[in-house]
Amino acid sequence: MKVCVTGAAGFIGSAFVRQLLAGAGSEVVAFDALTYAGNLENLEECRADPNFSFVKGSVTDAAAVSAALEGCDAVVNFAAESHVDRGIGQPEPFISTNIGGAAVLAEAAAAAGLRMVQVSTDEVYGSIEAPARTDEQAPLRPSSTYAASKATADMIVLAAFRRGLDLVITRCGNNYGPRQFPEKLVPLFITNAFADQPLPLYGDGLNVRDWIHVDDHCRAIDLVLRRGRSGEVYNVGARGDRSNMDVCRAILGAAGKPESLISPVNDRPGHDRRYALDASRIADELGWAPMVGFEEGLAATVEWYAENRAWWERIKTGEYLEFYERLYGERLADGGEV
Ligand code: NAD
Ligand code: TYD
Repeated sequence: MKVCVTGAAGFIGSAFVRQLLAGAGSEVVAFDALTYAGNLENLEECRADPNFSFVKGSVTDAAAVSAALEGCDAVVNFAAESHVDRGIGQPEPFISTNIGGAAVLAEAAAAAGLRMVQVSTDEVYGSIEAPARTDEQAPLRPSSTYAASKATADMIVLAAFRRGLDLVITRCGNNYGPRQFPEKLVPLFITNAFADQPLPLYGDGLNVRDWIHVDDHCRAIDLVLRRGRSGEVYNVGARGDRSNMDVCRAILGAAGKPESLISPVNDRPGHDRRYALDASRIADELGWAPMVGFEEGLAATVEWYAENRAWWERIKTGEYLEFYERLYGERLADGGEV
């Protein structure tokens, strides 16, 4: 199968490309605009593979997308602006890439008769009160620009399905693992801990996310790509619900650093309290089950960041530093407290 993977130079897209190439019989066209979050180093080990090619382009560019899809059997769309905090006050790239890009891809995939997998998120469901879990029938109640743009993209591609596009949507919980950009909770806290810097925990630290290792997510996407029912949505979750405080403590434990580094800051505006997925559909229909336990996966992730300092030290400079100062400077200036 020849698969176009958009957003292939990012955290999850690059893990998916490595997984596809490791299995037999797949050819990959990696497509990415190389925004601040895209990093060709993530695909370094794939570049010598004859079944791999890379195209720099934006999913908003219909001509570039159609050219990249030529000869492909399917497209898996990871391309997105993915950080909730960046969407607050700067919605435009979320609208153009996450919504506009999905629309362009859906049209191009339909025209070429390809299967499309739209990689969505549990954030489209919004916050869910304990002990309930969201299944695929739950209403979409997004609380951030990011989540709203992903929910809109889901609607757009589902509309294209009704016009004949062969489409499957996945909605996954919070991923962790190697090569995640250090603006997200897990890699930010790991790399700050290594440098004995404060871990800026939002609000009371009791917001809950449903954590899953990136490789388990990628195995689910591969199954859905090959065997998912057209027009269907599949939740992907490992029942990994944990509070941010618990994740913070686990990171500090794995990194051998003291809990005194935990530093409460003002909360994120519109911060969803809890995500928790019911992923029984993908388990029952496709036999998917997570393989990586949280403690084991987190320890391996901490180890990866310890062994690949050059990868993240380069990132934590320049544009990223400015973003960090702007976001956390404001939060700390108001003196957030638990
Ligand atoms: P990421 O930010 O690490 O990577 C996004 C990639 O998309 C980058 O390589 C970037 O260069 C590329 N990109 C951005 N705009 C583009 C454009 N206009 N055209 C082409 N490429 C573009 O994000 P990630 O964490 O790997 O997430 C990938 C996908 O998975 C996203 O769609 C996200 O919504 C979804 N998702 C992420 C999580 C998570 O926990 N990270 C959970 C569920 C779903
Ligand atoms: P994040 O990794 O940004 O993912 P998302 O917002 O998409 O779930 O954040 C995960 C959780 O961690 C979320 O509840 C916000 C919280 N968080 C902090 O407490 N401090 C931080 O510095 C960041 C980036 C996130």
